[in-house]
Formats: sequence, C-alpha cells, structure tokens
Amino acid sequence: MAEAETTNELPVGFSSTYPVGVITCAVVIVSLILSKLFFSKPKLNLPPTPKGIPLFGTMLKTRGPKTHRILIEYAKEFGPLYALRTGLKYFIVVTSPEIAWEGLIKNAQVFSSRPKLLSRLNFTGWRSVNSALYGDYWRGIRKNLVIQVTSGSKVASFAPFREEELAILLERIDHEAENNDNVITFLPHCRFTVFSILLHVCFSKRFNPEDIEELDAVLKQLLIILAPQVIDFIPFLQLFSKKHRNECQMLLDRMRKMFTPLIDEHRVLRNDGKPALDYVDSLIVLQKEMNLKETDILGLIGEVLTGGTDTTANTLEWTMANLMKHPEIQQRLYEEIQEVTGGKMVQEGQLVKMKYLQAVVKEGLRKHPPLPFGITHGVTQQTKFKGHDIPEDAMVLFHIQAMQNDPTIWKDPNVFNPERFLNNDSNYDMTGSHGPKSLEFIPFGAGRRICPGMNLALTHAHLILARLVQRYEFTKTVGQLFVVDHDDSGPGMNFRVRRSAGVGTI
Ligand code: HEM
Repeated sequence: MAEAETTNELPVGFSSTYPVGVITCAVVIVSLILSKLFFSKPKLNLPPTPKGIPLFGTMLKTRGPKTHRILIEYAKEFGPLYALRTGLKYFIVVTSPEIAWEGLIKNAQVFSSRPKLLSRLNFTGWRSVNSALYGDYWRGIRKNLVIQVTSGSKVASFAPFREEELAILLERIDHEAENNDNVITFLPHCRFTVFSILLHVCFSKRFNPEDIEELDAVLKQLLIILAPQVIDFIPFLQLFSKKHRNECQMLLDRMRKMFTPLIDEHRVLRNDGKPALDYVDSLIVLQKEMNLKETDILGLIGEVLTGGTDTTANTLEWTMANLMKHPEIQQRLYEEIQEVTGGKMVQEGQLVKMKYLQAVVKEGLRKHPPLPFGITHGVTQQTKFKGHDIPEDAMVLFHIQAMQNDPTIWKDPNVFNPERFLNNDSNYDMTGSHGPKSLEFIPFGAGRRICPGMNLALTHAHLILARLVQRYEFTKTVGQLFVVDHDDSGPGMNFRVRRSAGVGTI
C-alpha cells in the first residue's frame, strides 16, 4: 500500500509487485459483470443506437481529434437524434436545428444542466459556470460573470486594455516579420493578445511577458486535465484514478501559487476602501454571499482565461486562413475598413458600421466553430423526448458544426462565403432566440446555457481582425498548402505579411 502511494502508475490499494496482467484481468472481469448488471436495468426506449463492443460501447471508435466528424457520419445512418453508448453512459447526439430547439429552448428547464462528470470532482468540483448543475448556484455565479465581465457596458469599459494590448500585438508582429523574412506564425500572437486582455479583465493589471507565458502554460494544462476521462464513462474506475487526482491537485497548487498573492492584493485594497471593481473583486464580494471556497475562486478565474482565449484565437486564425485563401475577400474587407475609417487607424466605435467585417467573422464561426459540439449538456431528470427516453445521467451533445455545415440547410457549406450573412437575416444573430431556424447558426450555443462571453469575444475578434487586415496584407508562404477545408484541428499556419501603405495613425 505504502509503495503504491509513491507511484502514479498503479491504482490505490495494489502493491507495485502485483502482476499487472492479473490486475488487468480482474478489472476487465469486474467491469464486464458490472456492465451486465447496469444494462439489465429496466429497458429504456432510447433513440437509435449504433452497436458497440461490451463495456466500451462505441467509446474506442469515437475517440480522437475527428470525433465531431465521426458523429456527423453516424447521423447519416441513425438520424438527427441518436444515442451512443460510451462505457456505462449514453451520449445523446442532436444534429438538427429543429430538435435542438425543442431541447434547448422549448424544454430548457430539463436540458440546461451539465452531466455530473466524476473527473471534475478531482479538480474543483462542479463549481464553475460551465460545469455547475442547473440551479441557484449556477444562476448566481453566471449572473456575476455577466454583470462584471461580459455585459455591454463592462465590455465597453475594457477598451483601454484592448488598446494597450493591440498596440503590443502590432509591435510583436512587426518584430517577427522583420526578423523572419516577413513570415509570422499567427496563432501564438492572437492567443497572447486575447489572454493578456482577459488577464486585465480579471486582475486590472498588465503582466510582464514572462508571467503571461507561465500563466498560459498552466492554463493550457488545465484545458487538458479537464477533458473528460475514462472515469466519466466507467465510473467505478474512479477507484483507480489516482494519477488524475494527483495531476489535478498539482495543477491547483500551481494556480494557487500564481493567483493567491494577486487575490490577496485585491483583499487589501478592498479593506482600504480602494477596490479595483474587476472580476476578482466581484468574486471576493460573492465569496461571502454565496459561500465560495478558495478553490471555487481559482476555478472561476481559470474558466474566464481558458474559455475566452483559444476560442477567440482559433476563430481569428481560421478566418485569417480563409482570407489568405480568398484574396478578393481580404481586399473587399480592406476596402470597407478604409472607407469607414478614411484611412486612419480603425477605432472600436467604427466596428458597428463594418457589415462586411461582421459577415466575415460570422462566416469564420460558421465554417469552423471553435467548439464543434459546444459543451455537453445534462438533463435534470430522466425525460421523454421526441418519443424516446433520455436517461438521467445521459450526456447531451447539440452538434453545432453538424447544423452549421449541413448541405440541406446551407448552399455550398464548404465554401467560405461571407455574402451569405449580408442580408441582415435576424435568424442569424447568433442568439438562437428566433425560432427553430435560428438554431442553424449557433456558434455560441443557445438557450439558458448560451455562452455568456459572446459580446466580449466578438469585440475582440472584430477589432483584432480589422486592425490586422488594415495594417498588413496576408498571403501564403512559399509552398504552403491550404488546409482550410479540412477542419480537424487549427490550421497552425504561418502567414506572409506585408505592411499596407499609409496606415497606422489615428
Ligand atoms: C469565439 C469565442 C467563443 C465561442 C465560439 C464560445 C462558445 C461557447 C459555447 C458553444 C458554449 C456552450 C454553450 C452551451 O452549453 O450550450 C460556451 C459556454 C461558455 N463560454 Fe464561451 N465561447 C467563446 C468565448 C468565450 C469568452 C470570451 C468567455 C469568457 C468571458 C466565455 C465563457 C463561457 C462560459 C463561462 C460558458 C459556460 C456557460 C454556462 O454553462 O452557463 N466564452 N461558449
């Protein structure tokens, strides 16, 4: 036992001299027995379900970076509402806007929860906005996030942070271009800028580049560790998840070390009557009102930083990759920017007048939604849905990408064509609040769990894209392949940039 505790490899309770084969056999036999017991429970009338192998179901087939595509393929065979057995749980997959509307809007009361993922208990529990179960706790922390970070007036109040970080972004790109034969790697610059703005939003302070890199490394780790684990599908394996538990605790310790001194600074200012009134401040106030634990605060800060960085940076990268592939679209966007600004550096207040810019960003989000099937929903109770039973512990996926790239809905869905968003169709305002048709385009989700960061994210995406397209012409590098039609992972592209003449002054 003592030996086992010193290693991450072996499950709790086994000594390292125990033959691995025996342990594996025992685990498999116990799993099969439990799986049999589990599935001999009263028969449910589930949506159509592909066949899978004992215990694992279709889990092994659907793993990996192409999961979202595999799920679209299943829909061709099993229809727009089907179930996938994954370990001892079911994923319910929805790929049509009409059915998504029935779940997310018409039956919101039932479909607006999150699944009780055991892996999250190894971290801070179901205590962040995105992981909290539907109920008063979720309502309280979400309301605070909206009021303090993402409401229109708050987003506007962060304009000075954006200006500071955008100036640094342009300097960084200039510097890399000068030193690398005009070739830049785009994504890290966008991530750095968006992340720095979000740090400002949380802490009201600018960090030095080394600290930003270090914080970013920890939060990247957080994203990896919070991905669903095998214990979420085969819960009794929790007994053997010591490695994951340890990793979570180590990460929490690192976050504690980085964030606690900053949170304490805020507490001191608050006691002195000089609060910064930023997200951290609001969490300090909320701590008393809602009984937040120290780890809840760490998790809530981490959620804004991780939730807002890669999503926005990936949107920018994909959109830019498509602009590079279609120079005529890039040129038209440049002309719109120049027309609205009169050739001076684009200002935030001018973005609302740039309809083509907005259409370009929408098209980027349609073709390459950063979260292809959103965040998994849970149901508050076992329910009947479209004539089928949805088990209480099911995980429900509303497949955003399937709906946004459905050839029966969108003409030439694989073609990057911002024009499709130029006719001011209110169905496509990304809120999903205009009937079933509006769920054809929901990159931020829809209903009660819709992304609270939408305003903030769009402000970042519009401003960064406008400033970049105004200042540089983006072209492909020699021998570069275009992979923008294959959206399995970010294009990870280098771009060749050339400074446009006469731009850069206010
Ligand atoms: C282009 C950028 C972004 C995209 C495409 C995006 C997309 C999404 C999607 C699809 C969901 C799941 C909705 C659902 O469960 O049905 C979501 C949830 C969420 N997003 Fe975003 N997001 C973006 C930026 C942001 C930003 C900047 C923030 C932070 C301020 C943020 C914070 C959250 C949170 C906290 C949730 C969970 C909401 C809840 O469970 O109530 N997101 N996002």
